[in-house]
Amino acid sequence: MVILDNLKTGHKENVHPKAAFYLGDKGDAALLDKIFTEHQIDTVLDFAGLIQVGESVKEPGKYFQNNLGKRRKKSQLILMVSLSISLRK
Ligand SMILES: NC(=O)c1ccc[n+]([C@@H]2O[C@H](COP(=O)([O-])OP(=O)(O)OC[C@H]3O[C@@H](n4cnc5c(N)ncnc54)[C@H](O)[C@@H]3O)[C@@H](O)[C@H]2O)c1
Repeated sequence: MVILDNLKTGHKENVHPKAAFYLGDKGDAALLDKIFTEHQIDTVLDFAGLIQVGESVKEPGKYFQNNLGKRRKKSQLILMVSLSISLRK
């Protein structure tokens, strides 16, 4: 299992000791390339989001950028998973 987290709200001690951990942002294309090169990944679960309702009302742009604006990068992530699977077949 591979965990990617920028630790903006998360805590490293919650990561399972057997998981490969990468500190970084899910919108970082170069880091995603590195992770997909170093690991055979066939499934991605994306729980990386900001969730504070009050803060989201005060700073909607921050939430749009983090939770929706990185959708293009998310598409890239899905594409990388698909490629990774088809290259192994
Ligand atoms: N907690 C709930 O009850 C609940 C219920 C339904 C859905 N969800 C959804 O699950 C997801 C996670 O919720 P949670 O309660 O675990 O929140 P959380 O804040 O505990 O965990 C989110 C993690 O994502 C990381 N993160 C945020 N943006 C990132 C980014 N751009 N790149 C890398 N890492 C990033 C944070 O550092 C944190 O570790 C959210 O999308 C939330 O809407 C949560």
